[in-house]
Amino acid sequence: KTINIALVPGDGIGPEVVAEGVKVLKAIERMDEHLSFSFTEFPWGCEHYLQEGKMMADDGIEQLKAFDAIYLGAVGYPGVPDHISLWDLLLKIRKEFDQYVNLRPVTLLDESLTPLKSRTEKDIDFLVIRENSEGEYAGAGDRLFAGKPEEVVLQTGVFSRKGTERIIRYAYEEAQRTGKTLTSVSKGNALNYSMVYWDEVFEEVGMEYPDVETYSYLVDAASLYFVNDPGRFEIVVTSNLFGDILTDLGAALTGGLGLATGANVNPEKEFPSMFEPVHGSAPDIAGKGLANPLAAIWSVSQMLDFFNEERWGAEVLEVIREIIKEKDNLTPDLGGKASTADVGGSVASMLESR
Ligand code: NAI
Ligand code: MG
Repeated sequence: KTINIALVPGDGIGPEVVAEGVKVLKAIERMDEHLSFSFTEFPWGCEHYLQEGKMMADDGIEQLKAFDAIYLGAVGYPGVPDHISLWDLLLKIRKEFDQYVNLRPVTLLDESLTPLKSRTEKDIDFLVIRENSEGEYAGAGDRLFAGKPEEVVLQTGVFSRKGTERIIRYAYEEAQRTGKTLTSVSKGNALNYSMVYWDEVFEEVGMEYPDVETYSYLVDAASLYFVNDPGRFEIVVTSNLFGDILTDLGAALTGGLGLATGANVNPEKEFPSMFEPVHGSAPDIAGKGLANPLAAIWSVSQMLDFFNEERWGAEVLEVIREIIKEKDNLTPDLGGKASTADVGGSVASMLESR
C-alpha cells in the first residue's frame, strides 16, 4: 500500500519539523515492505505570497485533491498579515476538503511534563474531538451602525443539523469502537439556542448507541475538571470554539506546544485529511535548529492511525514516550540541548532498533 502525501512545510520552523516527520516515515518504509509513502512538496506559504501575491497556487486545492493526506508544518510569518496567511491556506484547505473533525489528543507522555502536581500518565489520557467546520467560527455576523452610539456587533454561532449530527455521531462511533466513555461539553444554560440544540442532538444520536456511557458538562465546569480531575475524561466531543480553547488548556497540561498535535480529518476519505502540529511558525526560533519536532512527529503517528496502520502509529508514540524520559534527547523547550535534527534522528533510529 502506498500513501500519497502532499507536503506543505510552510513557514518558519514548519519546514524544519516536517523534515523530521518525513525522516520517521522513511524509516517505517524501510522496515515495512507492504507500506510505502510518496512525497510531493508544495512551496506554499508566506514567501510564496511575497513573491506571487498569493499563499498558494490558484488551482492549489485542485492539485491537493489527488493526495491521500496533507502533512503541514505551519504558516504565517512577520510581513504577511496573519488573517491572510491563515484564511488563504490553512482554513481554505480545512474548508474545501470538509475536514470537519479535529482530533486533539490530551495525553501526558511523562509525568515530568505536566504542571499539575502528583498527576501521572494514567490521569491525563484522553482525546478531544472538536467540531471543525461551523459553530462559533462559521464567520456569520454583522456590524450595524458602525461608529455610532447605537453600534451593535453580532457574531452568530451556526449549528446545522448536518454539522452537529455528524461530529456527534463520529464521537459515538469512536467511543463504541474503543469502549471508552463519551463526554459532551456544551453550555446549554446560557446559549439557549445553539447549545440547547447541541445537547438535544447529543441525546438523540445517543439512542443509537445504548452501550456507550455518556456524560455532559458545561464548558466552565469542564475547564475546572481538566485541571482538578482530568482522569474523568476519555473521549470529549465539543464545538469549534470550546474545542479550540479546551485543547490549548489540554496542551498546557501535557507539555506545551512542542508536543501538541492535531489532525483535521474528513472521515469519509472523500477528500484528503490534514495532519499538523498545533504550534505556529515560531519566527523567534526559526532557522536555528531549536524547534521541537515531536509535535510534528506525533502528527505522523495520527496519520498512520488514520490509514489503519495503528501498529505503526502506536510504535511512533511509544518511541516519543521513550525519548522524553531522557532530557539529553530533547530540544531546549523541554530542557535539553539536542537540535531539531538530532531529535528526529533519535526517533527514527530508535524505531529501527526496536
Ligand atoms: P507559535 O506557536 O509559532 O509560537 C509560540 C511560542 O512557542 C514561541 O515562543 C515559539 O518559539 C514556541 N514554539 C512553538 N512551537 C515550538 C516548537 N515546535 N519547539 C519549540 N518552541 C516552539 O505562535 P505565534 O508566535 O503566536 O505565531 C507565529 C506565527 O505562526 C504567526 O504568524 C501565526 O499566525 C502562525 N501560526 C500558525 C499556526 C498554524 O499554521 N497552524 C498556528 C499558530 C500560529
Ligand atoms: Mg488554537
